[in-house]
Amino acid sequence: MEFENVIRDRYSCRKFSSKMIEDEKLEKILEAGRIAPTAKNLQPFKILVVKSLDGIAKIDEASPCRYGAPCVLVVCGDTEDAFHSDVFNSYEMDSSIVATHMILEATNLGVNNIWIELFDKEMIQREFDLDDSLVPVCLLPMGYADEEAGPSHKHFERKELEEIVEYR
Ligand SMILES: Cc1cc2nc3c(=O)[nH]c(=O)nc-3n(C[C@H](O)[C@H](O)[C@H](O)COP(=O)(O)O)c2cc1C
Repeated sequence: MEFENVIRDRYSCRKFSSKMIEDEKLEKILEAGRIAPTAKNLQPFKILVVKSLDGIAKIDEASPCRYGAPCVLVVCGDTEDAFHSDVFNSYEMDSSIVATHMILEATNLGVNNIWIELFDKEMIQREFDLDDSLVPVCLLPMGYADEEAGPSHKHFERKELEEIVEYR
């Protein structure tokens, strides 16, 4: 897909069919995350691919926002491995770039997705037995849109360039 179309076609999907993502597509989506830039190239992240019944049940305990997706990527940042000082830690930024790479590659491959912030981080950490330094930053439910799905009205509400850009 043309890059311009990828960034314009992406929307937050809130109703998925049960159709699973093909393994080849999932590999490409994960590869897009792997090559994302991170501060000092420290690559302080882990991606959990949750597809098992048990794993999906844990996601549903921690969040009301899976929307029926058969696969959820949990992007976690490592607070110890990330570039950090007393006042700054890059783990959230790094993980967000990784997640953005993956949702755009998913869109490019025709795989619908959504970024989820509304989840119990401690529950995910506990249920998936993550190291203390590994913080789940976002959930990315992925799959194929149900035929009734489509962008919400918010998708079409964007500020004009004049409102968000200042030339100095
Ligand atoms: C950081 C972030 C957190 C979000 N968290 C949620 C969420 O918890 N639940 C949800 O339904 N949508 C969530 N969204 C989706 C946004 O509501 C959506 O991106 C926004 O309304 C614009 O719509 P669009 O993605 O269709 O263009 C989140 C998006 C971002 C970028």
